[in-house]
Amino acid sequence: MARVAAPAHDREWLHEHAKAHLWRHFAPARVDRDVPIIVRGEGCHVWDDQGNRYLDGLSALFCNNIGHGRADIAQAGTDQAKELGFFTTWAYPHPRSIELAARIAGLAPEGLDRVFLTSGGSEAVDSALKLARHYHRLAGTPTKTKFISRTMSYHGTTFGGMAVTGLTFLREAYEPMAPGACHVPATNTYRLPEGHSPDEFAEAIEERVLFEGPDTVAAVIIEPVQNGGGCIPAPPGYFERVREICDEYDLLLISDEVICSWGRLGEWFGSQRYDYRPDLITTAKGLAGAYAAMGAVIASNRVAEPFSDGGPPFMHGFTFGGHPMSCAIALANIDAMDREGVNDNVLANEPVLRETLEGLRDIPIVGDVRGAGYFIGIELVKDQATKGRFAKADADRLCAELGPAMFARGLFSRADNRGAPAIQIAPPCIAGPEEFEEIGAVLRPVLEEASARYGIT
Ligand SMILES: Cc1ncc(COP(=O)(O)O)c(C=O)c1O
Repeated sequence: MARVAAPAHDREWLHEHAKAHLWRHFAPARVDRDVPIIVRGEGCHVWDDQGNRYLDGLSALFCNNIGHGRADIAQAGTDQAKELGFFTTWAYPHPRSIELAARIAGLAPEGLDRVFLTSGGSEAVDSALKLARHYHRLAGTPTKTKFISRTMSYHGTTFGGMAVTGLTFLREAYEPMAPGACHVPATNTYRLPEGHSPDEFAEAIEERVLFEGPDTVAAVIIEPVQNGGGCIPAPPGYFERVREICDEYDLLLISDEVICSWGRLGEWFGSQRYDYRPDLITTAKGLAGAYAAMGAVIASNRVAEPFSDGGPPFMHGFTFGGHPMSCAIALANIDAMDREGVNDNVLANEPVLRETLEGLRDIPIVGDVRGAGYFIGIELVKDQATKGRFAKADADRLCAELGPAMFARGLFSRADNRGAPAIQIAPPCIAGPEEFEEIGAVLRPVLEEASARYGIT
């Protein structure tokens, strides 16, 4: 049969074949309407197939941290292909995997020196969960198998990541879940009932450990700033207390930094911003600047030790985990981030982003503005004074309207109903005041119109 070749940028062909063949992620197999097709990117902007320009307010999916159009970074992959296009990271490693592991270990918090490379975030999370169980087996605590995570959290779509994910709508069609995941409340202080203290969020972890039985719990998995629910930070003292609980009950602390690393919070790793010590870090997304599919688990020396010198192998791996081209691209991305001061750019400019978004609080639908670095959520409410919630159907409809409304005005971002409707703003980490102005100029009319449409005054 003749191959079907796509003529470059033939709109009609692309739309027709998208409908016939492409199964988009988190989307129905087929939709009859045309969906916007993004054809080009440069810096903080992308263009669609009709030539319209959009500010990328989400870094594609929290991953284009270094910005679009960096052919110089992608070039490292081509150069690598000329030398060695592919070899595994299994028994015989290749130079780029060794260099990348050493580079990541050098940037990671002290004592996390062992790097297991994957092709993405879900693979990293599943690897960390399996590593935690295997570690406890080797450490003489084999009954420790359960994981504690938080409601509304997103940790990926594979069976392990999905089990610890705290979003029912992402789990229910795929039951039964892998056993062992237990959930505690997300740290949404804006929604903390009156009379309660933010300290209760960490205490809920201890209570759950005691309820399950400390001998049955392997690890706690949390993000530095939780994505699901709309960029939810932890209250002061939270991470310190979680570390204490982990130490007291012999639990591993897994810091899921698939989003919150590589500049997103102005640091290489989010745990560095909040000064806590994980036993395992999972990372992906911005690691290779989104110019290659790449993730990693970074293990502390304590976790790696039973697998070292005479210990058994970690019986786990992926063919393309640590692909040489991806490693070369990740190294070039980290070099560029370092040279160009991308983390410093975020730290210097995050107050301006915050001020821009805080400036929307006069719009009646804006309930909360929260987050850190270039990772900010705007929770939307029916009533600012009472923090009144939308009925689920209205919240779903509102979110379905907001994405296209922002897009129509030139901003790519999204709104999700995860507990409450929230817009997320996470521009490339190279963005500055000019881009923030563009974001604010779109959000204001979009939110004012939504307030009016839902009769919120
Ligand atoms: C915190 C967190 N963990 C895991 C994942 C899964 O990563 P991936 O989509 O690369 O599999 C994501 C994806 O957004 C995430 O935000």
